[in-house]
Amino acid sequence: MSELVNVYPSTSPEPQRDDPPIIEATNLTKVYKMGETEVHALRGVSLRVWKGEMISVIGQSGSGKSTLLAILGALDVPTSGSYKLDGREVASMNDDQLAEIRNQRIGFVFQKFNLLARNTALANVALPLAYAGLSDREAKRRAAEMLAVVGLGDRLHHLPNQLSGGQQQRVAIARALVNQPSIILADEPTGNLDSVTGKEIMALFHTLHRERGITLIIVTHDPNIAAQSERIIRLKDGLIEYAAQEVQTA
Ligand SMILES: Nc1ncnc2c1ncn2[C@@H]1O[C@H](COP(=O)(O)OP(=O)(O)O)[C@@H](O)[C@H]1O
Ligand SMILES: [Mg+2]
Repeated sequence: MSELVNVYPSTSPEPQRDDPPIIEATNLTKVYKMGETEVHALRGVSLRVWKGEMISVIGQSGSGKSTLLAILGALDVPTSGSYKLDGREVASMNDDQLAEIRNQRIGFVFQKFNLLARNTALANVALPLAYAGLSDREAKRRAAEMLAVVGLGDRLHHLPNQLSGGQQQRVAIARALVNQPSIILADEPTGNLDSVTGKEIMALFHTLHRERGITLIIVTHDPNIAAQSERIIRLKDGLIEYAAQEVQTA
């Protein structure tokens, strides 16, 4: 007989796949220098992610989740270690290549939505398209289309403060999706929402994953959300914790 000793969701094994991973992080460390003291936010994280996966990253506050996600999103750089996206080392990319990754390849969703307060939902979602060089007219057309996908087709001209928290997060998700990135990284996307609205946002992520084949990495400290994903990565003190142990019992 055997039983599972850890009652909390633990790091899952990698999938068995023949195609190369789209994300390959090896021995990532991140040290923040605070005057005399050093904070070791990541202490050697290795992680591979394959196209189309839906992964939750869990762990206590301060365990390094946001630090890891920011590195994977090319928003921050590791102190040491290697991070390859589509087989290319991110540290060796120039500013143009990094900007293209942030604009085209990866969509980022934040806990606090990070919308521009003076811009309508439509303008917020159209912004990454303007950066990508689309005409104003085409940008607005695609932004409106994406807002409809997230269920806000009738809120195009609302400002963020005229929208509920859940609606603001939908705008942020539409913005993250509008350049059709193949990877979405979301840092506690339901953290500022009530539980019912949080469930709706998670349902939206599930739909996007299922219908568009988007690779999703979601940071959460909610074990119920984590349990809905295909794979869980648990961080503890800057390291991935491999704790799922089948123990033999008599
Ligand atoms: N910009 C920063 N400067 C200094 N320390 C930081 C900074 N960002 C995060 N940290 C520290 O690094 C550790 C990991 O933080 P973080 O990645 O935000 O954890 P989590 O998202 O799991 O709560 C924490 O101890 C935090 O205080
Ligand atoms: Mg965090």
